[in-house]
Amino acid sequence: MRVLVTGGAGYIGSHTLVELLGQAHEVCVLDSFANAKPVVLDRVRSLTNGKISLVTGDVRDGSVLDDTMSDFAPDAVIHFAGLKAVGESSRQPVDYYDVNVSGTLALLRAMDRHGCKRIIFSSSATVYGEPEYLPYDEAHPTNPLSVYGRTKLMAEHVLTDWAAATPGASAVLLRYFNPVGAHASARMGEDPADYPNNLMPFIAQVAVGKRAQLQVFGDDYDTDDGTGERDYIHVVDLARAHVAALDHAAAISGARVFNIGTGQSYSVLQMVTAFRAASGHPIPLAIAPRRAGDIARMQADSTRARNELGWQATHSLDDMAASAWAWQRGNPDGYGD
Ligand code: NAD
Ligand code: UFG
Repeated sequence: MRVLVTGGAGYIGSHTLVELLGQAHEVCVLDSFANAKPVVLDRVRSLTNGKISLVTGDVRDGSVLDDTMSDFAPDAVIHFAGLKAVGESSRQPVDYYDVNVSGTLALLRAMDRHGCKRIIFSSSATVYGEPEYLPYDEAHPTNPLSVYGRTKLMAEHVLTDWAAATPGASAVLLRYFNPVGAHASARMGEDPADYPNNLMPFIAQVAVGKRAQLQVFGDDYDTDDGTGERDYIHVVDLARAHVAALDHAAAISGARVFNIGTGQSYSVLQMVTAFRAASGHPIPLAIAPRRAGDIARMQADSTRARNELGWQATHSLDDMAASAWAWQRGNPDGYGD
């Protein structure tokens, strides 16, 4: 298939490019480089010997989208482009609605103009909010606790209504749990622009000596060791879910939502233990107050993805920690300047 990948230079997008090229799909990346560096695509090319068309532009720009769709004529779009920092989203809500919701609308309008009827969307488990039961299945009520989560849920509604109203159209909505880890080559990985918001990149920066210690946000949750539990998923497993979703989008009409997780949750302290083992570094830590908006535990029921996409995660916690460490050690400054 010819696949337009918005946000393809980002953390999840770049790993997905490797998997797409490995399956002989043709790809075109549209990225503004708001949160990525062009060198990422050189790494993808060198790992795959694949050809990547690149358009540098904003997903909200209808004329860029028109030019891209005229030239590349995609069979499907994978839509990663978006803003993703939960804390920032409450300080800059209009920016988040604009990029995440208006960006999706602009993309759908362009797809309509060019007759492209398949889209895979990066949603998030954060749309569920406080669990009424665990593991979350796709029927769990949605009640996001942040502006970011609300933008993702709103985009899901837009895509669902579009797919219902457009003959022959399909939208696969992937609710990612917590993506971590890096490509096995250690040439690609997560490269936070400044202060890491997320646990795994923070631990990795402590291990490599860029940060003195990890702050553990709360040890009084109702979990086995009192620290927050999440369903961490290796980014390569997540990337492969997109390849499976592309095939699925070709086979269905309408919208379908899928949880993409492992079904296993680990606490902050279990993540630290795994990273200590992978890196041989002590990872000093201090217990700090709870972070606003955090919940105790998240865990995916990914039965639907297994049954309908034929997808399931294969990487273990040790794979996640070892690959994240190999990437961080080999690239202490990420992709550099
Ligand atoms: P990322 O920031 O690494 O990738 C996003 C990419 O989109 C970047 O390359 C960025 O330059 C580009 N971009 C941003 N705004 C753009 C715009 N207006 N026009 C064109 N390109 C633009 O993030 P990621 O971790 O790879 O996440 C990819 C998607 O998955 C996002 O939509 C994110 O919300 C979603 N998601 C991420 C996580 C996570 O924990 N990483 C969890 C759930 C969902
Ligand atoms: N944590 C710490 N110290 C840190 C960072 C995180 O103790 O320095 C803890 C958090 O309190 C939480 C766990 O580690 O218990 C995971 O936190 P992350 O920030 O890595 O991940 P979140 O679950 O908060 O959120 C992430 C993404 C969201 C996405 C969500 C999907 O940031 O965008 O996963 O499940 F929506």
